[in-house]
Amino acid sequence: MSYKGILILDFGSQFTQLIARRIREMKVYCEIHPCTEPFQPDWQYDGIILSGGPASVLGDTAPVVDPRWLSTEIPTLGVCYGMQLLAQHTGAVLERGQKREYGQSTLQLSGEHLFTRGLPTASIAWMSHGDHVEEAGEQWSVLGRSDTGVIALMTHKLHPWVTVQFHPEVAHTQYGEHLLQNFVLGMCQSPQTWTMGHFITEQVSALQAKIGSDHVICGLSGGVDSSVTAALLQKAIGPRLHCIFVDNGLLRQGEREAVEQEFFELDLTVVDASTQFLTALDGITDPEQKRKTIGRVFIEVFEREANRLSKRHGEIQWLAQGTLYPDVIESLSFRGPSATIKSHHNVGGLPENMNFVLIEPLRELFKDEVRALGLELGLSHQRVFRHPFPGPGLAVRMLGPITAERLSLLRRADQIFIEEIHNFGWYDKIWQAGVVFLPVKSVGVMGDDRTYEWTVALRAVHSKDGMTADVVRLPWELLERVSTRIINEIEGINRVAYDVSHKPPATIEWE
Ligand code: XMP
Repeated sequence: MSYKGILILDFGSQFTQLIARRIREMKVYCEIHPCTEPFQPDWQYDGIILSGGPASVLGDTAPVVDPRWLSTEIPTLGVCYGMQLLAQHTGAVLERGQKREYGQSTLQLSGEHLFTRGLPTASIAWMSHGDHVEEAGEQWSVLGRSDTGVIALMTHKLHPWVTVQFHPEVAHTQYGEHLLQNFVLGMCQSPQTWTMGHFITEQVSALQAKIGSDHVICGLSGGVDSSVTAALLQKAIGPRLHCIFVDNGLLRQGEREAVEQEFFELDLTVVDASTQFLTALDGITDPEQKRKTIGRVFIEVFEREANRLSKRHGEIQWLAQGTLYPDVIESLSFRGPSATIKSHHNVGGLPENMNFVLIEPLRELFKDEVRALGLELGLSHQRVFRHPFPGPGLAVRMLGPITAERLSLLRRADQIFIEEIHNFGWYDKIWQAGVVFLPVKSVGVMGDDRTYEWTVALRAVHSKDGMTADVVRLPWELLERVSTRIINEIEGINRVAYDVSHKPPATIEWE
């Protein structure tokens, strides 16, 4: 750990990231490591949290921690599985639950401790466990029980260890945040220095020390992550950062110009490779084939430009990438790589066979921290809060063959949709929105004329991470306005549909 803060040892709970979020909201740094992490005597941290997890402490293959983590007299909080593990470590009696206690319960407190300071004697706590501590033993003070009499909170008499059977990190636990604050700020006395201003100062000097007088290449897509990566690196190394923006001909209306305008101070190479992409995509209708083609051409274009830059500035060994903390956690996960990793996300990503050393200055940050950082670095609100847009661009929103003419129709329809979403004040309430071109012609009537033209579908979803999504219930007036404008203003489209499917079973993009 490079900063002082809280070390979270993860036993695989679905809430572990939430613990980290809560702590960072207190402006305290924290890191998640798998519970299998061997003890690191050099790491700087003020407290340890042992997370919950799906396993049973009583099972044969129960995960444990390196016992040296518990030999330091550093304050330690055990949550659910973490509590049971600490209890077991000290000889307490655990019992396998006959049935799981799941959901809301009342936490009844007795006794006093810095950890429970300021809490009322009764409050709502959210439980999710099978096993529980049946007899705490001499070493522990039991300070709280649940509705059913289960030991819900206990503190160690000799070591600075505190434990909860419920989940303080979830919003349903009434005083959960308060308890976490008592632990982090009270018991661990962690400094509240984790601000984006502080992060910039630290990262800029770390990047300068690492990069020295070298040059760095960065693929800028215009998305939040690559934009913030570029802005941060520019602050650190100025003109020795060289950004490459690939116009693949599958971008939204005005996207390339907006990037050129916003990043005018950067050494930005804008490559117009649209002809190369469209030629390669000619006649392809299979979605996977489209993605593969786009990925391949992207690598070709990127390599060519990177080589050109290398010739001009001497061999460039560094490549900057906007990897975020959830990806890092995912790859380190004690559960192993989960099924949630999206294979298609390598489109527009790193050419694997290129000999670069990666620089990933955002790898400690969550998405909302990246946004805060972007604003702090002076990026526009529009850039920082824009909806996600897929690497293969409009290609995955165009069913059937991709042609320049159809792209032009789609681009204009998309522009109208997004414009009206802004006009109605809905942009920030939606996670992602766009238009899909359907190679379906239908009959319509305009004035006295019969039309026989294409169809588009509007798509707008709420989501947290793109893995699941709910359709947005857009106001009818907005949908009508968009439909009227698209049909009136774009010759070639005479029908507009709204996609009302959730993910799953549908996906966000149509291809
Ligand atoms: P799906 O269609 O899988 O999309 O429900 C989930 C999220 O991922 C985005 N997406 C991509 N992003 N490269 C990307 O960078 C891709 O190849 C890609 N495919 C889908 C999609 O826009 C949505 O936000």
